[in-house]
Amino acid sequence: MWIFGALGGLATTLVVGSKAIGKGKASGQGLLTETELCKGLPLIPIKKLVFGGHELRRGSLLQSAREIHEQTGTIPYPLLNALKADLDKTSKEIKAGTAINAGRSIQKLAERVPKKPLSMKSELARLQRDIKSFMQRNRLTRCVCVNLTSTEPQLKLTSTHQSAEALSKAIAGDKRSTLRPSTLYALAAAKLGLPFIHFTPSNAAFIPAVIEEFEAQAVPYMGCDGKTGETLVKSALAPMFKYRNLKVLTWQGYNILGDRDGVILADAENKRAKLESKDGLLSKILGYPLHTHVGIDYVPSLNDLKTAWDFIHFQGFLDYKMSLQFTWQGCDAILAAPIVLDMIRLAELAQRRGESGPMRHLSCFFKRPQGVDDHDLHRQWHLLTEYVKQARS
Ligand SMILES: NC(=O)c1ccc[n+]([C@@H]2O[C@H](COP(=O)([O-])OP(=O)(O)OC[C@H]3O[C@@H](n4cnc5c(N)ncnc54)[C@H](O)[C@@H]3O)[C@@H](O)[C@H]2O)c1
Repeated sequence: MWIFGALGGLATTLVVGSKAIGKGKASGQGLLTETELCKGLPLIPIKKLVFGGHELRRGSLLQSAREIHEQTGTIPYPLLNALKADLDKTSKEIKAGTAINAGRSIQKLAERVPKKPLSMKSELARLQRDIKSFMQRNRLTRCVCVNLTSTEPQLKLTSTHQSAEALSKAIAGDKRSTLRPSTLYALAAAKLGLPFIHFTPSNAAFIPAVIEEFEAQAVPYMGCDGKTGETLVKSALAPMFKYRNLKVLTWQGYNILGDRDGVILADAENKRAKLESKDGLLSKILGYPLHTHVGIDYVPSLNDLKTAWDFIHFQGFLDYKMSLQFTWQGCDAILAAPIVLDMIRLAELAQRRGESGPMRHLSCFFKRPQGVDDHDLHRQWHLLTEYVKQARS
């Protein structure tokens, strides 16, 4: 598996968790692929997974895992010692990322980039070479790519993004403002014929030009923006109001979070991309417009422990108004890592089965699922269970 953003909090938790499960040092709690649902599916065993990736910051997986241990304690100390050799080996497979037109907040992280700036065309070729040589070195026949980089500022879409031909002309002409790093990462995966999972809210990866490449190569792909916290709860709760004809008048949500993801989201340019992802689903589930608000604030001391407080004002019989409030306190990486691992295994299976296009059965894992307009978590879950039934038979 190839991770873009390989030293991030989520990426590190994913690698540590996979290695720990593979060695029998952690349970598969949180993984759907380890439950009765997926029994009988020929999924790749977790211990067989090999990791590499692109990253902008210097450092190693062990350093990143140590930081997580100190900040949140989610990675226990004994695991750091037990996995040291594995993490050191995987760190050697981490290569310089690309920061072309990444926006000011992400540019500040860019310590590990090519010494001499490359043209977009050479940068794209370099990214592909890195992944190909990783596969050759590790004798891999398949590789799933996953984007776990920081949330980028939104890309203003123009005619250049509408076709693969127009985009490749812009790349050949080195028109650097026409794309973001996630465009290059998605293109690299598509051109190599590798499945791609886009876990961030960035709108620059699944532009029509890139989708055309995925379709031309007949590879499976899915995104955008993992659904792990407040939005997950929203997509489970909102249908309940519909099932009882209770009219939701207002849904106010406030999120506070720390860590690097929080720093990047404190930049208004980057935050806009996230807000759009989090706010869009309620009117789609309920079928009518309502007053909504989503706030995100950076609170350094929280680290990866995100807190969301939601207030829902709704109307029932005789138009009587009532309210529901919930507080969600989740650790972002602990919630996200298992679903990324589930999706890697399911994407690898999809490619082995000769499937291509958007993996609609993974829609329950995303805030803005490709090719699925239904945001009701229960119906999205049904898509997954139906797929599994069919893949098993
Ligand atoms: N529950 C969750 O954790 C969750 C849910 C939904 C979406 N996401 C998204 O997943 C992403 C990762 O979250 P995180 O908490 O691990 O953040 P993080 O800041 O800890 O990790 C991001 C990593 O990506 C690296 N990076 C940034 N731009 C890069 C580039 N162009 N090339 C290579 N590396 C680059 C950074 O240096 C950092 O190591 C974020 O975009 C976040 O919004 C996370």
